[in-house]
Amino acid sequence: CESVVLFASGYAANLGTLMALAGSQDAVFCDRENHASLVDGCRASEARFLVYDRQQPERLQRSLARRRRDFDQVFLVTDTVFSMDGSLADLPLLAELARTWQAVLVVDEAHATGVFGAEGHGVCELQGVRQEVAVCLGTLSKAVGCLGGFAAGSQQLSDWLWNSARSQFFSTALPPAVCAAALEALQILQHDTARRQRLQQRASQLRGLLLEGGLALAGYRGTAAAAASLNPAGSPIVGVLLGDEHSALQASARLREAGFLIPAIRPPTVAEGTSRLRLSVCSEHTEQQIADAAAAVLKACGRHAVITRSQSSDHTAG
Ligand SMILES: Cc1ncc(COP(=O)(O)O)c(C=O)c1O
Repeated sequence: CESVVLFASGYAANLGTLMALAGSQDAVFCDRENHASLVDGCRASEARFLVYDRQQPERLQRSLARRRRDFDQVFLVTDTVFSMDGSLADLPLLAELARTWQAVLVVDEAHATGVFGAEGHGVCELQGVRQEVAVCLGTLSKAVGCLGGFAAGSQQLSDWLWNSARSQFFSTALPPAVCAAALEALQILQHDTARRQRLQQRASQLRGLLLEGGLALAGYRGTAAAAASLNPAGSPIVGVLLGDEHSALQASARLREAGFLIPAIRPPTVAEGTSRLRLSVCSEHTEQQIADAAAAVLKACGRHAVITRSQSSDHTAG
């Protein structure tokens, strides 16, 4: 991208950018599982707020065909990694819809920066659509390990945001020390591919153990081909579906007692009947820690870990 504007947080970047770009003659199509900061930005803008379900892309296509001419600008707004299950957006599909209907593709790479793509540029890099994304939003608070948010794109986009993104210019700029730390972290993330690979190996290990133990994992459920590519085993957010709120809360409490901080996610954050445990893997977790965490989750969910040849028996609490 040509240019970037920094904000005090990812939340401020999403809110301020969408409010600055989408006006009363426009429409924003917002994925129903988008993070609250994108939803709030869409809602706070004066544009018509339209929600779509990415599990039903043909409905989004029909809705664009029916409504496109009612609006000046149309924005397609999506997370690239969905924060409640770690699944990915189908960006090539959204890019094609954006081309067909002259829509502006806006993505939030919050959970993808540093994690996906050969150089850690995110799902846009992984799926080969960097040139087709008009607005790339993100945070410095996750893999970058700092604080702050950004909106990246053309010079024209930055010029516009400098003068109209209220959450940017009515708020104190990020301290120089934070910017310096973020720059250093970005250098490491870009070049240290071993760390990225390790993260993905640990996430795959965790998913494998939980699935072997018979648990259901949350994720994209569309066509088999799409589901295979949009639910990568190496995605570091793992959602263990438990259904009702009580089971999720109880399992989370048991895990806490066992020394694992694994929060329960319940409605309204996720849909009724899809309460879950949400696990986040980090590149510094050891294989042993992942094996222990998987065994503890299985136990807390009333399952027993499957003993595989690669594990010693003390990794697999019954
Ligand atoms: C997908 C997504 N976008 C944006 C944000 C907001 O980022 P920040 O914490 O920097 O405000 C978060 C979470 O914190 C997130 O999960």
